[in-house]
Amino acid sequence: MSGLDDLFTAAKAMQARAYAPYSRFKVGAAIRTPGGRIHAGCNVENAAYPQGACAETGAVSAMIAAGESRIAEILVIGDGEGLVTPCGGCRQRIREFASPETSIHIAGPEGLRRTFTLEDLLPHSFGPDHLAATRDA
Ligand code: THU
Repeated sequence: MSGLDDLFTAAKAMQARAYAPYSRFKVGAAIRTPGGRIHAGCNVENAAYPQGACAETGAVSAMIAAGESRIAEILVIGDGEGLVTPCGGCRQRIREFASPETSIHIAGPEGLRRTFTLEDLLPHSFGPDHLAATRDA
């Protein structure tokens, strides 16, 4: 998995820290920014179920907290047979800081399973550019 080893390792370490006592489904996510830094997050569930947060949301928050705001690529890791692709809400959160060509890598415990682009997962999306025309108006 050359080139993705560090992202995979960061996401996997985060997955181990996930707080998922209700679903028992731990997820980790790691973002690489254009400068090469990595920001990671894990899912954090809550007894009030809807208040739980996805791993991707945590990784985006960590990136912003670190003073960065562009996603070069992101890797998500989860267990089970299926591809743990970002939920709809997280696709939109990633979209805020990424481009249509941005790679979204999906991994399992054994390694990389598949790579999508953001455009694959969230085609014809709405983003900051749509609001530009009305800003300062
Ligand atoms: N989850 C994520 O953190 N990311 C995904 O891409 C899919 C789902 C979390 C949310 C919840 O804590 C658990 O996995 C089960 O849905």
